[in-house]
Amino acid sequence: MSRAVVLGATGHIGAHVVRALLAKGYAVRAAYRTPRYRLALEGLPVEQASCDIEEAASLRRVLEGCALAVHCAGYYPGFTTPRDRAIALGLEQIRRVFEVFRASGLARVVYVSSAATIAPQPGRLSTEADQEPWPLAQWKPLYATVKIAMEHAVLRYHRHGFPVVIVNPSVCVGEYDARPFSGRLVLLFARGTMPVYLDYHLNVVYTGDVGAGAVAAAEQGQLGARYLLAHQNVTLGELAHAVARVAGVRPPRWRLPYPVAMGAAALTEAVAAVTRTEPLLPRSTVRLARHGQRLDPARARRELGLPQTPMEEAIRRALAWFRQHGYR
Ligand SMILES: NC(=O)c1ccc[n+]([C@@H]2O[C@H](COP(=O)([O-])OP(=O)(O)OC[C@H]3O[C@@H](n4cnc5c(N)ncnc54)[C@H](OP(=O)(O)O)[C@@H]3O)[C@@H](O)[C@H]2O)c1
Repeated sequence: MSRAVVLGATGHIGAHVVRALLAKGYAVRAAYRTPRYRLALEGLPVEQASCDIEEAASLRRVLEGCALAVHCAGYYPGFTTPRDRAIALGLEQIRRVFEVFRASGLARVVYVSSAATIAPQPGRLSTEADQEPWPLAQWKPLYATVKIAMEHAVLRYHRHGFPVVIVNPSVCVGEYDARPFSGRLVLLFARGTMPVYLDYHLNVVYTGDVGAGAVAAAEQGQLGARYLLAHQNVTLGELAHAVARVAGVRPPRWRLPYPVAMGAAALTEAVAAVTRTEPLLPRSTVRLARHGQRLDPARARRELGLPQTPMEEAIRRALAWFRQHGYR
C-alpha cells in the first residue's frame, strides 16, 4: 500500500483529498497545523500528525516514509496584508516548503493552486493555456496576484527537475468548509435575507470532485502540467437562486450596479477594520467580479476523468454539513 501525506488535511479541500486517497486504497497521513478543525477527520482510518509547513523540521517529519504529498496548505493572504508583503510571504513559503520536499525524496507532489491564476478571456472560456504571466501585465486582486506568483515559483522547481503536478480548483462548494471561504456565499444566500446580488461570472465545482481530481493528478497527471478542476459556469445570480431553491428561502431580487457595489464593499471593509474581521464583500472581489471567470475543464475531464457533480447537489451537501455543525 502506498503512503501519502496530505498537508492541510483539516481544510476544505484537504478533507476531500484525504477521502479520495482512502477510496483509492492509500495509507494516509493527515497533517494539520492546529487541532481545532480535526472534526474533518473524525472516524477516518488515517494517521494524524501535526505540522507547521513553515518549520522545516516539522515538515520533514511528516514527509518521512511517504512517496506522495498533496499540498493543500498553501499561503493565502488576509485582505489587509500589504501587497508586497503578501507576495514575499507567499514566495518565501514556496521556497522553504519545496526545499524540504526536494531533500525528502518524494516521488511526486500535487500542489493545489487556484483558478485565480487563469486569465479571463473575453468572448470564450479560459483554459489552462491562459496562464497569467509573472510579473503581471496588468492589475490583479491581491489573492490572485499572490497565487500567480506562487504558481510560477512552483513551476520553476519543475523546470529544475522536481516532480510536481499543479491543480487549479475554481470556487469550491462542499462539506468540511469549517472556516467558510467560498462557503460564506452559500451561507449568505441560504439565509434568505440578502435582497441584492452582484452579477458576475464564476465557476463552481463540488469539492469532492476536486479531491478526486487531485488524486487522479497524482496518479495520471503530467509532471509540470496544470489542471483546471472546475465545473459549472454560472452567474452569481444563478448561484444565489440555486442556493435559495435548495434552502427553501427567498432569492435576492435586485442586481447591484457596479459603482454601488464598490461603495457597499468599501463600507464592509470599514466595518471589518473596526471589528477586526474579514469584510463580507471586499472591493477586490467586486473588481474581480467585473471581469468574471468562465472556465473550460475539458483537459482535466479527458486526462484525469474529473467527476462533475451537479452544482445543486454540491450546494445540498454543503448546506447539510453547515447545518449539522451549527453554521447559520
Ligand atoms: N476553497 C476554495 O474555493 C479554493 C479554490 C481554489 C483554490 N484554493 C486554494 O486551495 C488551498 C486550500 O484551500 P482550502 O479552502 O482548503 O483552505 P482552508 O479550508 O483554509 O484549509 C487550509 C488548510 O491548510 C492548513 N494550513 C495553513 N497554513 C498552514 C501551515 N503553515 N502549516 C500547516 N498547515 C497549514 C490549515 O490548517 P489550520 O487550520 O491549522 O490553519 C488547513 O488545514 C489554498 O491555498 C487556497 O488558496 C481554495
